[in-house]
Amino acid sequence: MGSVSLKLGDGTARFRRVAFCSSALNFIMLFSVLTTNLFAFYAFTSTPKNHLHYTPNNDVSLISEQVSLILREISSSQKQLAQLERELLGYQNIDISKSSIASELKLFLQYHPLPLGKDSRTGIAEMVSSVGHSCEKSMNLLSQFMNYKVGGICPDDWSLAQKLILRGCEPLPRRRCLTKSVPKVGLYRFPLSLWKPVNDSMVTWSGLGCKSFDCLNRKKIGKDCVGCFDLINGSDKQRFVKAKSKIDFVVDDVLALGNGGIRIGLDLGGGTGNFAARMAERNVTVVTSTLNLDAPFNEFIAARGLFPLFLSLDLRFPFYDNVFDLVHVANELNDGDRPEKMEFLMFDMDRILRVGGLLWLDNIYCADNEQKRILTQLIERFGYKKLKWIVGEKVDADQAGKPKVYLSAVLQKPVRV
Ligand SMILES: *[C@@H]1O[C@H](CO)[C@@H](O)[C@H](O)[C@H]1NC(C)=O
Ligand SMILES: *[C@@H]1O[C@H](CO)[C@@H](O)[C@H](O)[C@H]1NC(C)=O
Ligand SMILES: *[C@@H]1O[C@H](CO)[C@@H](O)[C@H](O)[C@H]1NC(C)=O
Repeated sequence: MGSVSLKLGDGTARFRRVAFCSSALNFIMLFSVLTTNLFAFYAFTSTPKNHLHYTPNNDVSLISEQVSLILREISSSQKQLAQLERELLGYQNIDISKSSIASELKLFLQYHPLPLGKDSRTGIAEMVSSVGHSCEKSMNLLSQFMNYKVGGICPDDWSLAQKLILRGCEPLPRRRCLTKSVPKVGLYRFPLSLWKPVNDSMVTWSGLGCKSFDCLNRKKIGKDCVGCFDLINGSDKQRFVKAKSKIDFVVDDVLALGNGGIRIGLDLGGGTGNFAARMAERNVTVVTSTLNLDAPFNEFIAARGLFPLFLSLDLRFPFYDNVFDLVHVANELNDGDRPEKMEFLMFDMDRILRVGGLLWLDNIYCADNEQKRILTQLIERFGYKKLKWIVGEKVDADQAGKPKVYLSAVLQKPVRV
């Protein structure tokens, strides 16, 4: 056992040469080979005790019986071995021995032992790469995703990646190919960039119905993006600075509630990043989480000089506990008749928000009064201080008739002991 000491930063890390998995596997293999051989040896050499009428015929049938027993034993050991291998790799569902699985995927998923063995600081002995367990349901798509020329240019398939993410295959495996590059000629300096139109040639249009921002602006992309890529005349332009109704709060009012302590925030489902842009004008850094559903939201936000986060809302936020001063969420919270789905999201937002931080629920749509009651109850369980709380009704422009119930609130995270 080699043992090496390294001076690392604040202390001494100790590494030890152990390759637990491979030696355990070797041991199991050796053991199974030994036991099957011993068993065979025993079967052929031991004399049966209780037979009175000894005939050669009888002997042959006995031997063939023993042989089939041995074969069964071997096959069962092999199955056990395969199972152990799967357990050691940690992939019960993804059978990486199948020939249809891209070899890059197998390579990616294999454990890579640390060159110096177990690291005493982190306690890990190997580097583990993972894919989401739901990837198992989309093995064909995943294998397609992992099928490329190593070191070459990746297929132009970002929409395939998004398709996988939407099927819960998140995180995706890494790839060893170069992504198609897009020249970003004509980016503006910050903060000029915040409200400048983005040139069509700056984003990837593959896999999208529209091939220009002009086209996008003439279409309705989801409920909350009508002309939302139009930074000059778009209907969204005045949002957050001018209230259209009492359920719209303006950023200056909300920031005032934070007593100057709001510096970093997360915006969920932030569309083209207008919220982050308004916050940036007030020196607050906001990360906008969005996918590219029918439009190049991520590239657009980045071209404005803002921070896009390509992440589905079903994944735990990749942020540490108690770090954000503000979380803004518009429209997204409700999930029909699955209140527990909403709870997972609420608890995760609560986790990343610091004590005294603000949770801004912005125009949260409630299908009916029952849903409003469920949402209200859920929010109240967290014990937040209600700095603003308004329930209002709105008639959607496209669905004239019955007004819909919306909730807007600014809540302050309490101290918990
Ligand atoms: C967009 O970019 C292309 C290529 O970089 C350039 O020729 C064109 O003038 C740009 N258009 C605008 C409106 O800036
Ligand atoms: C915005 O509206 C003005 C006048 O209504 C028009 O001249 C201009 O072309 C529009 N800009 C965009 C980007 O649509
Ligand atoms: C933002 O920061 C800049 C540079 O520190 C400062 O000049 C400006 O007044 C700040 N703006 C606001 C709205 O606080």
